Amino acid sequence: MDFPIFHLDIFGNRGLIATIAVLHVLVNHSLAVGMMPLVACMEWYGHKRQDPRWDRLAYNILFVAFLITTTVGAMTGIGIWLSVSLVNPYSIGSLIRVFFWAWFTEWLVFVTEVCLILAYTLTWKKWSEGRAKERHIRLGFTLGFFSWVTMALIVAILGFMMDPGNWMTEHTLWSGITNPIYLPQLAFRTPLAAAMAGIVAMFLAQFFTKGDAAFRNEALRAIALWTLFFAPFVLIAGFWYYSVVPDVMKENFGVAIATLQFTDWQQKFLEIALITVVVILVAVQVVIARPNLLPRFALLAPLVAVIWMIGHFERVREFVRKPYVIGRYMYANGFRVDDYPLLQRDGILAHATYSNPLTDAERAGLPQGLDDAAREAKLARLQMGKDVFMITCSRCHTGHGVNSITEHLQRMFGDQPWTPELTTGYIEGMHQVRTFMPPFPGNRKELDLLGEYLEHLQNNLAPIPGAQTAGIIVQAAPALRAAKIDQSETIAR
Ligand code: HEC
Repeated sequence: MDFPIFHLDIFGNRGLIATIAVLHVLVNHSLAVGMMPLVACMEWYGHKRQDPRWDRLAYNILFVAFLITTTVGAMTGIGIWLSVSLVNPYSIGSLIRVFFWAWFTEWLVFVTEVCLILAYTLTWKKWSEGRAKERHIRLGFTLGFFSWVTMALIVAILGFMMDPGNWMTEHTLWSGITNPIYLPQLAFRTPLAAAMAGIVAMFLAQFFTKGDAAFRNEALRAIALWTLFFAPFVLIAGFWYYSVVPDVMKENFGVAIATLQFTDWQQKFLEIALITVVVILVAVQVVIARPNLLPRFALLAPLVAVIWMIGHFERVREFVRKPYVIGRYMYANGFRVDDYPLLQRDGILAHATYSNPLTDAERAGLPQGLDDAAREAKLARLQMGKDVFMITCSRCHTGHGVNSITEHLQRMFGDQPWTPELTTGYIEGMHQVRTFMPPFPGNRKELDLLGEYLEHLQNNLAPIPGAQTAGIIVQAAPALRAAKIDQSETIAR
């Protein structure tokens, strides 16, 4: 709890990361990892057949990929760093400690990739003859390889977050990289990226081959074959991936309801993957068999299907991992599993460096008829209750926005007063009923403070600002804080 708490009370913190990350994955898979080898293949094919139309098409597609990857792709890449550091600095901190050299290597590879794509795009026209052309084609394949290596490194970290595997006992970089999810996930993402690139390239090719129907059909057919080639691997690796996840889940989530919950999610994802593959196969079949009959925007269908699938896939991947941000090691609230006994004994507030000040709007709606002293005591308790909420719940819940705590309480308890007796009973056991939530990390007194704060939220709809707008207060020494809780308890009774 050494960092101030960034919080978005309407959109939700998870939403911020998800939006940036999904956009990044879409751009990275379809326009970099998958597209660079495809463009290089097209260039090679054009050179082999001495057909300048293939060369032009390859260049035009590359140029689109170049523009988007070096802007949206690169910025969302940095955006992931910024957003995860804001939302969960503890988890990114732990990951950096484990994967420092992997990330350092990835950074070098990424910089190389950027240099290569610049060189590849800018030398296209110059290196167009004989030897130079061959060198240029090799440059394209090298670029494709480097794009894939960046993904291969990052996927190790994603797999680790789901199941750290042997790292839990060995604590080495290598044991972290060789986690059980790594290879299946890489095997899944690799053909997926290639197939996605094919779908995007087919869509673009229609526009870059206008006025030459014969070549348009030839190009569409060839790219469709490329896509078709990778589609079965997506499915096979998807099953492989699927088969490694339940084992981890069995380890992570013993409770029957949870298993049902997650089976349901997995089932849904599998269905979506199947539908997507079918849509891709149908579209590709049409392209191969009857390219003339294809309406111009028909190729949007497989594109949308694949975007839909990726979105869902990333969501399921993130969800299945809960309540952890790093499987079995760190909960999504940023606390290490091993620190729980200490926190539950001392309380989290005793270890919190910062407090999140209540705004004036948040102070409204106090019970009627309090005298000044009781009012002050109540506000002091609400302040501490808010801190408990911010520290333990706000990584996943907002006050009144996406996945809001008030909406959940309203659904569960309706309009009756959400008294601490009512809510704390649930919160104490919430990790058993809803296994995607971590156990409450604080002590009994803090649970009561949280209960009072939630009761207050029923009568106060003011947004809960994060440290970025409301600022922070540096906490008093732990002993003083403990005394403050006791004092407010006495006055409140
Ligand atoms: C790891 C993220 C995470 C954390 C941390 C978390 N929750 Fe949740 N919580 C969820 C998710 C996800 C849901 C279910 C959302 C849905 O299905 O609509 C949920 C649902 C709930 C519900 C409704 C449960 C039901 O049975 O329908 C309550 C109440 C709740 N959370 C309270 C809390 C409180 C209080 C805290 C802090 C002490 C907390 N949560 C911390 C993720 C989290």
